[in-house]
Amino acid sequence: MAEYRIALIPGDGIGPEVTGEACAVLDAVGRRHGHAFRTLPVLAGGAAIDATGAPLPDETLETCRECDAVLLGAVGGWKWDTLPGHLRPERALLGLRSGLGLYANLRPATLHPALAAACPLRADIAAQGIDVVFVRELTGGMYFGDRGRREGKFGLEGFDTEAYGVGEVERIARVGFELARGRRKKLTSVDKANVLESSRVWREVVVRVAAEYPDVALDHMYVDNASMQLIRRPSDFDVVVTTNMFGDILSDEAGQITGSIGMLPSASLGDPGKPGMYEPVHGSAPDIAGKDLANPLATILSVAMMLRLSLKLPKEADEVERAVTAVLASGARTADIRQPGDGNAPLGTKAMGRRVVEALGA
Ligand code: IPM
Ligand code: MG
Repeated sequence: MAEYRIALIPGDGIGPEVTGEACAVLDAVGRRHGHAFRTLPVLAGGAAIDATGAPLPDETLETCRECDAVLLGAVGGWKWDTLPGHLRPERALLGLRSGLGLYANLRPATLHPALAAACPLRADIAAQGIDVVFVRELTGGMYFGDRGRREGKFGLEGFDTEAYGVGEVERIARVGFELARGRRKKLTSVDKANVLESSRVWREVVVRVAAEYPDVALDHMYVDNASMQLIRRPSDFDVVVTTNMFGDILSDEAGQITGSIGMLPSASLGDPGKPGMYEPVHGSAPDIAGKDLANPLATILSVAMMLRLSLKLPKEADEVERAVTAVLASGARTADIRQPGDGNAPLGTKAMGRRVVEALGA
């Protein structure tokens, strides 16, 4: 029996609820295929601050490094919002990303046909379908650049620095091109090269790497325009590669146009052979935490990405995705994806998880 080790970070807010259902799905997959998925629970975020005083204890990072993959729920909450920057729960995420070398963040945004009515765009636009993968650079740019406070022209000022190096852009560009090659062969690189020097370097490097991928059509878009085109003609986008900050912003926009951010999974990857981290794009949603209201499908779909990308179990990944599609087609809805006029009562987190397990036939 193949054994896989998965570091499990339930985290804060709705994190424990959604990872609970995702683990039930994982167990079901294991039963069907004779795999042992061993989960090793570790602390990060607010839960770690409460228990140890630090958002990312060393042993969490060590356990993650020794596992095949990391599954994370969400971190953060009101309780820790007033702590200084370096002690906030979000530091745990940034520390995991840099500590595990996870420079490529894959955020697929798909409009499931059964959820077309949840898409806030005009019906004729939604009818063309949405199937985009965002490739967000995850360990560079402003989120990791020099920052601080200093005296400026207007008194005390805060500053952050955006910088991108050639090697850093090359590796993320390659992730984008490789992914596009396996899909519709279109890559859009999003930058702000009309203003930012870091974006001009970004664009030069992407153009250079494009020479290795003559089969992929590359175009460039300024981020302000990209945010507009995404709602005007989303079906034109295939793969989008962009910086850490632009990817953070645009992937939330993509979440909204595909119906609910509660549906969006993500994978954060480093060099081949290193553990990847899988998490829903939504956050900890403290307002609905502990109420059995959260949609577990983003985390369940993140498990599918983990099966495919880190554990190299593509058949099992397909099964999980098909089970989610079947459950949606049957009319099952959590509150976030329910439309006025939907007949059935909304399902809670647990009931939705159970439906997926049943659809798997386990
Ligand atoms: C995300 C989140 C994080 C980010 C925050 C919580 C640090 O918004 O994963 O998109 O900005 O990367
Ligand atoms: Mg974000």
